[in-house]
Amino acid sequence: MWIIILIKQNYMAIHFEWTEDISVGNEIIDGQHKRLLDQINKIFDEIFSGVDHEKVKEAIQFLDKYIQEHFTYEETYMTNINYPHLIEHKNLHHEFIQKYYKFKEDFNTGINKETLLLEIESYIGLWWVNHIAKEDKRYQLYLIDSNKKIK
Ligand SMILES: [Fe+2]
Repeated sequence: MWIIILIKQNYMAIHFEWTEDISVGNEIIDGQHKRLLDQINKIFDEIFSGVDHEKVKEAIQFLDKYIQEHFTYEETYMTNINYPHLIEHKNLHHEFIQKYYKFKEDFNTGINKETLLLEIESYIGLWWVNHIAKEDKRYQLYLIDSNKKIK
């Protein structure tokens, strides 16, 4: 995982980049994680380069829908592999959704850019980095371990 700090003409942006070390061993889920991080970068860029509000709103809504679809997919996957920490993991997803709603609300009420920046960074970007690298990695390790036991 790479966190890249870009200094542009009038603002500073952090970019999240997917790297092999945070792979969860499932191509579809890895692809979804990449897309999520790309989309977070895009929102970051759009907010801070000052493009029109509607475009940012669309990007935020897209991410909202995409996250829900991703969580559903991942939860089904964890159910299928009999992951023992499914409930715990589902709770983390639920907590994130709540944070995302708060972010959406703040955006819609026109909160200042600096606060939005912090929210994207900590609530959204860093949450994902941490979640993929730690929590999602756990079900991969579980699967590797249980496959070893079968053999
Ligand atoms: Fe997850």
